[in-house]
This record gives sequence, C-alpha cells and structure tokens, in this order.
Amino acid sequence: MSAHASKSSARFAKASERWTASDGTAIATELGLSAGCSVLDVGGGTGVLAHHVAAASGCRVAVLDHDPSAVAIADSRDGVSAVLGDASAMPFPDATFDAVLLIDSFHHVADQRSAVRETARVLRAGGLVLVAERDPAHFAAMLTYTYERVIGESVSPHTPQALAEMFHDAGIEGESRLGSGDSYRFLGVRTQRAPSNKRINPTARR
Ligand SMILES: C[S@@+](CC[C@H](N)C(=O)[O-])C[C@H]1O[C@@H](n2cnc3c(N)ncnc32)[C@H](O)[C@@H]1O
Repeated sequence: MSAHASKSSARFAKASERWTASDGTAIATELGLSAGCSVLDVGGGTGVLAHHVAAASGCRVAVLDHDPSAVAIADSRDGVSAVLGDASAMPFPDATFDAVLLIDSFHHVADQRSAVRETARVLRAGGLVLVAERDPAHFAAMLTYTYERVIGESVSPHTPQALAEMFHDAGIEGESRLGSGDSYRFLGVRTQRAPSNKRINPTARR
C-alpha cells in the first residue's frame, strides 16, 4: 500500500469511530430492517457502522471496500462479513441484497455511474438504498472536499438533487432530505425497471 493510501486508511478508520449503537438503530428503523435480511455497506471501511446495523437489526451485513486493511478489520466484527472489491464492479450476483448503504463513501468513488448501476443490480426489486453525503453547496462541505483533494483523495461530490437524478437514471426512485448542517441523505427504492443481468461496460457512453 502506498504512503498516501495508508494515510487515507488511517483517517477513514479514525472517522468511523464516531458511529455508535444508536446510529445502527436509526438506520435499522429508517429502512425497516428485520432479522434475517441482507444488507450491503458499500465503502463500509472498517465496519463500525455495519456492526451496529447488524446488532440493531439482526440482518446479515456485508461490507464492500477497496481498502484491504479496512476489509480485514471489518471482517473480524460480529455480524459483518467483508469483501475486498470496487463499488463499480461489485462481486455479488444480481438481486442479492434487501438494502444498500453508501455512507460518506459515494463522493470518494471514482466511477460513480457504474457504482450506481451496480447498486441497482445487486438490490432486489423493492430494495432500499440509503446514501449519506454532504452538500457541496455548503461552505463547510466545500472546505472538507478541498482538503480531501489536497491530500490526494478522489472526490466528486453532488448536490442532493443531482445525486437523486443519478440514482433515478439507474432505476432507483427516491428523494434527498437535508439533515443538520451540510449533511443530507438520499433514500431510494429499486424499481422493476432497474437493469439486471448486464455486466457493466466501463467504456460505454451514456
Ligand atoms: C470516508 S470513508 C467512509 C467509511 C464508512 N462508510 C464510514 O462512514 O465510516 C470512505 C470509504 O470508501 C471506500 N471507498 C472509496 N472508493 C471506493 C470504491 N471505489 N470501492 C469500494 N470502496 C471505496 C474507502 O476505502 C473508505 O473506506
């Protein structure tokens, strides 16, 4: 791992310590998760939040992350199985999950269009997506994104409306709701018209 990647790993791991059991309960309640369901946390890092969601809901929670050191830590947590891979080419069959989480990770994904289509593909029809991001229209968020770019991280943030449109294009309908400060959450449902059984062609033009 490069020194830069290692620095980002440590930064992300530290930030993930903010998650508590009540955050897991809030997500389980918001998504109506019940025991036995299957949840994917894309860019779930070291699996702190995934663990809390698993404990609160009784669901199986998988973490997908492209950072090997984070995946190793996440995989050691109760209720969590972690897989090394990229959000733009998820190593799961179609319609595997009841819910997909992208919490503070989507703006870091380099190939976002493919990640959105992959999210639709691995979700069952009627499955839910929860994305938590910060609105780049806010000054505080822009400062954070600028810092992240300066330290070499991939950063492509979206306004709440632009993010909802991206998911709409892939067959995920929903809306973004503003939270406190510069935060917002998109909650969407995968409709029947989402593409399935199609491998992603990274060179395809929309
Ligand atoms: C800011 S951290 C958020 C971690 C966790 N979701 C949380 O809220 O604590 C962003 C995470 O996204 C992961 N990530 C970024 N791009 C990714 C990609 N293309 N595929 C998989 N994981 C990715 C990073 O490795 C990192 O663990």
